[in-house]
Amino acid sequence: MTDQNLTTLILAAGKGTRMKSSLPKVLHKLANLPMINHILNKVEKLGCTQSIIVIAPDMEQVAQAVAPIPVAIQERQLGTANAVLAVKSKLQNIQGDLLILYGDTPLIDISTLKKILDCRNSNTDTQQPSVVIVGMKPPQPNQYGRIIVNQHNDVEAIVEYSEASQEIRNLELCNSGIILVDGKIAFQLLEKIDNNNSKGEYYLTDIIKVARQHNLRCTVVEADYQELIGVNSQAELAQAEKIIQHQLREKMLNKGVSMIAPETVWLSYDTSLSENTILEPHVIFGSNVSMGKNIIIKSFSYLEGVTIGDNVTIGPFARLRPGSVIKDNVHLGNFVEIKNSIVGQASKVNHLSYIGDTEIDQNVNIGAGTITCNYDGFLKYKTYIGQGSLIGSNTSLVAPVEIGKNTVIGAGSVITQNVPDDTIAVSRAEQKNNKDAAINWRRHKQDQKILKDKK
Ligand code: UD1
Ligand code: CA
Repeated sequence: MTDQNLTTLILAAGKGTRMKSSLPKVLHKLANLPMINHILNKVEKLGCTQSIIVIAPDMEQVAQAVAPIPVAIQERQLGTANAVLAVKSKLQNIQGDLLILYGDTPLIDISTLKKILDCRNSNTDTQQPSVVIVGMKPPQPNQYGRIIVNQHNDVEAIVEYSEASQEIRNLELCNSGIILVDGKIAFQLLEKIDNNNSKGEYYLTDIIKVARQHNLRCTVVEADYQELIGVNSQAELAQAEKIIQHQLREKMLNKGVSMIAPETVWLSYDTSLSENTILEPHVIFGSNVSMGKNIIIKSFSYLEGVTIGDNVTIGPFARLRPGSVIKDNVHLGNFVEIKNSIVGQASKVNHLSYIGDTEIDQNVNIGAGTITCNYDGFLKYKTYIGQGSLIGSNTSLVAPVEIGKNTVIGAGSVITQNVPDDTIAVSRAEQKNNKDAAINWRRHKQDQKILKDKK
């Protein structure tokens, strides 16, 4: 849906003191994406004409995270109504509606946003509402503002928890913070809000009181509390993470991804999985992972920044790091780490390896314990391994180095020079066999032990 006349404000200037963190609150991540970007992704889908984020003067990091969306600075954090007024100079003559969202309410569903837009624009014979808010009934209403409705179910007031009597605190309907206001009158109403309350703040929620004084109609749309959770503390952040993980897992299960223990699998907002994928318990996806069909990821594997083809088996205990491309029919086994590398079609890295800054061509077999030595303490270097090569166990490939096609590298080699095609390369001390020496050695040791025990 596109509403050509919608302006969206996202308030993010609050100090976020309850988070007890030096990071601005809205940059805390859920499923690996900052809260503010979750909201922006949804607003983008709504197709409003302009969005502005309200930040505090010291929040350059937030401005960078939301670029190119413009920001407005709220000089002093005097409350949510004051935060909206910080954009007034940038928004002369708004024609359409003003949608106000809180940067700490990241799980809001796009269908709820559409519902309040519809509510304001629906043509009924009653008076069109000037303000529409979103309410919820959380099982633990904690410190949310409470919504007072009249006999027609219209909103008469929002009372902040800190201002509410016990009777009002007993009301079930809570304020989510999401407000849609007729843009033509929004600033006039906001300027009438005072700060005569226990916190001395300008509460945006008082816009209802002011609107009612002007006989303007205010209505409420109710939505599921799980999508409206406000994140003020680390505990609430963890609660929101639990909700989003549940949503992401459901999405994957519906797509045909198998999970024996979905509650142990951690997904990112952008994880892209296909059908016929099996995820064993305790698999973790960092951001930017996409995989083809017929994949098995065994337990305790950690994947981040990697593109994977079809028919691939990974783990258990594999670590795939950013910049890696795993082609079709590859096997990566236990305790294998791949960083910024390409593993070509049908190649195998089955046990205990580190492959970094490397290009492995197709049908290569990397023996157990093979390590690419890609870093000399100052700079990183590349390794290339040609198709059909067999790298013996416990080989160290000292980069920069190129291994040709169809080569065989002897186990335990330290390879420092390029190896041409079809070559066997071995670099290790030659073995010497000292016939019967073990018999004498053992006698000598036994004598030593007898002497020691006598003492
Ligand atoms: C607010 C609502 C409350 C509602 C709850 C829902 C008000 C007065 N109260 O309370 O009714 O139940 O959200 O989660 O609005 N911010 C600014 N500038 C400021 C103050 C806040 O930009 O001066 C921003 C914050 O960064 C935050 C948002 O506004 O993103 C909400 O502020 P917060 O202090 O978290 O309000 P709550 O106490 O949670
Ligand atoms: Ca809040």
